[in-house]
Amino acid sequence: MDYLKNLKTLANEIQPKWVSDHLCWTGVNQQNSHDLLPLPYNEEAIKHVVERVKKVQDYLGRQILLENVSSYITYSDSSMSEWDFLNAIAQAADCHILLDINNIYVSARNHGFDALDYILAMDKKRIRQFHLAGHTDYGDYVIDTHDQDVCDPVWDLYRSALQTFGPISTMIERDDNIPTLENLVAELDIARDIAQQVLTPQRSKACV
Ligand SMILES: [Fe+2]
Repeated sequence: MDYLKNLKTLANEIQPKWVSDHLCWTGVNQQNSHDLLPLPYNEEAIKHVVERVKKVQDYLGRQILLENVSSYITYSDSSMSEWDFLNAIAQAADCHILLDINNIYVSARNHGFDALDYILAMDKKRIRQFHLAGHTDYGDYVIDTHDQDVCDPVWDLYRSALQTFGPISTMIERDDNIPTLENLVAELDIARDIAQQVLTPQRSKACV
């Protein structure tokens, strides 16, 4: 509740367009893993998360966005796909979704599902923002390092996401190995070009 109180104070002060957080857990028994760990995808976890999202939204007085994380493990207790899990939570809690397209790609590679299936299954009316980022590809697995350029398969997924959801605000994330501003802007221009191609004559200029 202390954290929420501070978050509410900050949100009231800066009036952000959205408040978002990852759909994950990070620690247990006072031990923080400092990683965004996935939940088991089942009804029990849906109920657990929905109760908390509702509490947070009631306290903040606004709807929040939940963001999908990239993952490296699955649970034997899971009984549904990640996209069904995320959609079910968003619907029951009446919150919005931040779709991290790189995270979908990373998880798809690590777990062997089709990233496009994930995108096409998402609840169209709840998507409010896209994230793009780079990762490190080790061949057999992919780590969400956020320290590389956005790769071609993720650009392809971004194109599909724009075709599916229309003009959605987009952010490119970069946590480390920061290139020059010129290179960052050039990467943003790729996003703008794709949006222009896909959305014209829709509102492409407002998108990125
Ligand atoms: Fe993200």
